[in-house]
Amino acid sequence: MQVVILDSPEAVAEYGAQIFIRQLKKQPHSVLGLATGSTPVALYQKLIDANQKNEISFRDVTTYNLDEYLGLEGDHPQSYRHFMNQQLFDHIDIDKTRTYVPPGSASNPIQACDEYEQMIAASGGINIQLLGIGRNGHIGFNEPSSGLLSRTRVKTLTQETIDDNARFFSEDEYQPHLSITMGIGTILDSQQVVLLATGSSKADAIYRAVEGPMSASCPASALQMHQNAVIVIDEAAAANLEHREFYKHIERENQKLLAQLGN
Ligand code: F6R
Repeated sequence: MQVVILDSPEAVAEYGAQIFIRQLKKQPHSVLGLATGSTPVALYQKLIDANQKNEISFRDVTTYNLDEYLGLEGDHPQSYRHFMNQQLFDHIDIDKTRTYVPPGSASNPIQACDEYEQMIAASGGINIQLLGIGRNGHIGFNEPSSGLLSRTRVKTLTQETIDDNARFFSEDEYQPHLSITMGIGTILDSQQVVLLATGSSKADAIYRAVEGPMSASCPASALQMHQNAVIVIDEAAAANLEHREFYKHIERENQKLLAQLGN
């Protein structure tokens, strides 16, 4: 795991955005795995800016989102499809027919999960998967106890996740308790994984993901098995890491090496 500790949430978004920008410059036909939630919003804004300045194009890009609430139509204001349209897709030159979000309103959700896996495979797999992390260590909606090699499936949300996401729903609005999510195994199949986390509320989850034992009780700890996982966090989210000075030292050395190589 590469652990990158930066001064501010703004620096986290910039570092994450540059990974995607480099990918799109190198491979315009990229397949990107995307996430919702508060954390990636600033990164999406940077991708929008880069697109509007013609630095990158999404014309040939395909995207797969991690998850969706089960029971919400794509035009529901709290659906993740709606979120993605608002936060990214409506503002870039992407062909929306190649932006995929698990179908929360599928009449047969179990079949829809298998089809989602098949579609990702037919696209050639995901080049970079963007992730946030829940306070309980979830990635996607893979809640604690999720199988570390699980595939896309219907998942029940924990009360903690329901409470954390209640901020997006008005008081009298129906809030789903079920989701469709890529599995941890699906995420691990991506060529590269970029997990962003900011703020002290994520410090314990980051500690367990990076330095804890690999365990289904912290789904993000499965990334310890990934050959190209980058964890980009601010100081507040890094606060509980025992080896944080070492991670900073490694990152300085990496940057020196990249500068020598002219990157
Ligand atoms: C969203 C997702 C979730 C979030 C996580 C963190 O698609 O899969 O795992 O990444 O709940 O959410 P925020 O960023 O709102 O703290």
